[in-house]
Amino acid sequence: MRRLISSILIVFAVGLSGATSPASADAHASPVVLITGANRGLGLEFARQYGDAGWQVIGTARKPDTAADLRETGARVMQLDVTSADSVAQLAAELDGQPIDLLINNAGVLDRNSAFPDVDLATVEWILDVNVLGPMRVTQALLPNLSAGDRKTIVGISSGLGSLAQNESGGLYGYRESKVALNMFTRSLANELRDDGFIVIAMNPGWVQTDMGGENAALTPEQSINGIRSVIDGLTPEDTGSFRVYNGGTNPW
Ligand SMILES: NC(=O)c1ccc[n+]([C@@H]2O[C@H](COP(=O)([O-])OP(=O)(O)OC[C@H]3O[C@@H](n4cnc5c(N)ncnc54)[C@H](OP(=O)(O)O)[C@@H]3O)[C@@H](O)[C@H]2O)c1
Repeated sequence: MRRLISSILIVFAVGLSGATSPASADAHASPVVLITGANRGLGLEFARQYGDAGWQVIGTARKPDTAADLRETGARVMQLDVTSADSVAQLAAELDGQPIDLLINNAGVLDRNSAFPDVDLATVEWILDVNVLGPMRVTQALLPNLSAGDRKTIVGISSGLGSLAQNESGGLYGYRESKVALNMFTRSLANELRDDGFIVIAMNPGWVQTDMGGENAALTPEQSINGIRSVIDGLTPEDTGSFRVYNGGTNPW
């Protein structure tokens, strides 16, 4: 008799755990991440790792037709030049109604030879356009999508070179200023959106082997993005407005 009762209980429990109402299926739908500049470098590695982890990945590229590596990750590839208001508007129109859980403002440029006093100010303008106005344009346009997402997380890929506290050299005009400005955008946006449940952070990915970082860099993209993903996974509302490092630490502003 006791065996019969326990069999009935087991059947009942299995039945319950196997039941999926439409509501619970929705609750377990895979989260959506949008990554800018995802055709190479850190962006491509973000796309690979989030795809492997079961996320729905939207990876943007300036030239989707040549973004074969990104396509291979299984990501949805969309056109985006972050310096073009039309391109940003087109992306937002195509994504109308699509919730986004996580936005990674990753696209960025650097001019290694930018030294004072010969610095080319037109080049500085271009760097600021990509690295600062770019994330502002994209975030502004996709805010409705992010508001509709469950996680409401915005990550700006910054740099240790954007830390005022850690600057003991100089050089890299345009790039350093751009990341300081991105950090301030991050901090202000975090304050503005705190009460709406958003988490907005700046992230120092470390020095990484990409076209930008060069082959002598300390980290592989796998190492950097693995670390960044675990920082993002562990974020709580108290973390909004912080400047984090790929290894879990906090970067001084
Ligand atoms: N690598 C490092 O050591 C390091 C360190 C600190 C911070 N970061 C930051 O990490 C981010 C990614 O850098 P990375 O090392 O992966 O650089 P990367 O290999 O040079 O890749 C840069 C990405 O940005 C895209 N991009 C450039 N201009 C764009 C525009 N106007 N619109 C849209 N996309 C554009 C590029 O697209 P195209 O292929 O079309 O040019 C490419 O996908 C950047 O924000 C960078 O500042 C990198």
